[in-house]
Amino acid sequence: MTGKQDDSATLTFPDDVILGPTGRPLRQFAQPKPLKSHGPARVIALCNQKGGVGKTTTTISLGAALAEDGRRVLAVDFDPQGALSAGLGVPTHDVTTIYDLLLSRSKDPLEAIQKTGVPGLDVIPANIDLSAAEVHLVNEVAREQILAGVLRRLSADYDVILIDCQPSLGLLTVNALTAAHGVLIPLECEFFALRGVALLIETIDKVRDRLNPAIQLDGILATMYDSRTLHSREVLERVVDAFGDKVLETVIGRTVKFPDASVAGSPITQFAPEHAAAHAYRQLARELVFRGAVA
Ligand SMILES: Nc1ncnc2c1ncn2[C@@H]1O[C@H](COP(=O)(O)OP(=O)(O)OP(=O)(O)O)[C@@H](O)[C@H]1O
Ligand SMILES: [Mg+2]
Repeated sequence: MTGKQDDSATLTFPDDVILGPTGRPLRQFAQPKPLKSHGPARVIALCNQKGGVGKTTTTISLGAALAEDGRRVLAVDFDPQGALSAGLGVPTHDVTTIYDLLLSRSKDPLEAIQKTGVPGLDVIPANIDLSAAEVHLVNEVAREQILAGVLRRLSADYDVILIDCQPSLGLLTVNALTAAHGVLIPLECEFFALRGVALLIETIDKVRDRLNPAIQLDGILATMYDSRTLHSREVLERVVDAFGDKVLETVIGRTVKFPDASVAGSPITQFAPEHAAAHAYRQLARELVFRGAVA
């Protein structure tokens, strides 16, 4: 897209400037410098109570891309469906899961950590047991802070901890928001995308008021974008109108490579390393480093 076709731009730029899908000048984020030391981790919750918007795919692909750039990454499966664990090809049964860590303070969190096929990317798995956690935790003292307590014990070993939330705003998600320094909201580029985002932002505001004053909105990530459809472009334009700079410049296109990679139990960056979608997630990783959301 050139400066002449400013249909998705809210600002005008010189004619020779190439605009990216969010209407800002298109740029490449450079590979960040290697880190000299690691930790403590910045915790980022990937959150949207709408289902199927790309939370799990983003956790996996972003985690793998950050690990490629030398960051030590822990991905936490915080959804009883266990899709993150499956997508990273780790077992979820007869292993220690995040549920065990939430329920028992005496368990060593290190016991739950599993390596993945990506060097530098570890995961704490979940399985259907986690669906009972809300009921079990409801009578606990400081029930919203239990995950934060678990992750604090792991923080020194990682640069970033990514929490893959389930599609709900219940107690588990509130635990994730209470444990997090930042929130990343994946938003599918389709008509009802903005529905529910106000409620999510309200929930983040409540958590900031009552439980976690430092929590930041790290960004809104447009996913499943199809540049060929006017519809996708219009949705993205509305998202940028509503959230401005909070919308990340990196946009993830729609491609069947993602379901294929999930079936293979491997991140897109390994499954199809040269695919545009793999490059997009590398750009996302670098944009988050550039914005200071990741070391
Ligand atoms: N950019 C994309 N293009 C095409 N398909 C995608 C893309 N991102 C994710 N998908 C696919 O869409 C489906 C939903 O994605 P994903 O599981 O990441 O969403 P989610 O928000 O974690 O869902 P849930 O709310 O159920 O946890 C999956 O089948 C995934 O492979
Ligand atoms: Mg998911």
